[in-house]
Amino acid sequence: MSKGCMIVCDGGNGAGKSTVLQSIEHHLIAQGRDPVMTREPGGTPIGEKIREVLLDRGSSEMFDVTELMLFAAARAQHVREKILPAINSGKIVVSDRFDSATVSFQHYGRGLPLNLIRQLNDIATDGFKPDITIILDLDPAAGLKRVHSRGSELDRMEQENLQFLQKARTGYLEQAKDDPDHFIVIDASKPLEIVISEAIRIVDQVVSKSYSQRPSFT
Ligand code: TMP
Repeated sequence: MSKGCMIVCDGGNGAGKSTVLQSIEHHLIAQGRDPVMTREPGGTPIGEKIREVLLDRGSSEMFDVTELMLFAAARAQHVREKILPAINSGKIVVSDRFDSATVSFQHYGRGLPLNLIRQLNDIATDGFKPDITIILDLDPAAGLKRVHSRGSELDRMEQENLQFLQKARTGYLEQAKDDPDHFIVIDASKPLEIVISEAIRIVDQVVSKSYSQRPSFT
């Protein structure tokens, strides 16, 4: 059986990730594909329980290192239970956030050492890497405005101050600069239709590359 591929959509809060992900899903389904849509933290029953602990405003006593290990624990379960089996059966996996978020938020944002985060990410993913990570880049102040306009209660991470979110944004941009083959940045301040069409163009490229690499007899 040929392998599938994995596309990640990540970026600041309020950058339009959910809408972009929905459009990617509709686009792939319209092409007759059967994408596995998933998210982090979460994506599995255990991961969703860890998500509740991580995002609960009542978890205000959480230490940074506890937070890091919970994100990694949810990822370890996600990769083994859902992502790798899907990839190994030839599926396209599309994830709302993945390891790039830990580098941005826990290293650049919280200041935890990068080598520790890389080590934990490697353990969690068993060395697996997504084919592409699409970063929706937006000024955190604009992102926060959008988050506030939803009217729902902010979660523990959304409550963080602007400086923390600004550092996380720098983290995404630095990762994209360091690894242009695996990251692509979309300016999420552009009109949503443009952001969506750019994201879909990238998805089409990654999917067609992944399928063209398959032996023709499979
Ligand atoms: P979201 O998926 O609803 O955007 O919320 C997840 C929050 O968790 C978001 O604020 C980003 C944060 N996060 C991290 O800090 N580290 C991580 O590794 C991941 C996956 C998310």
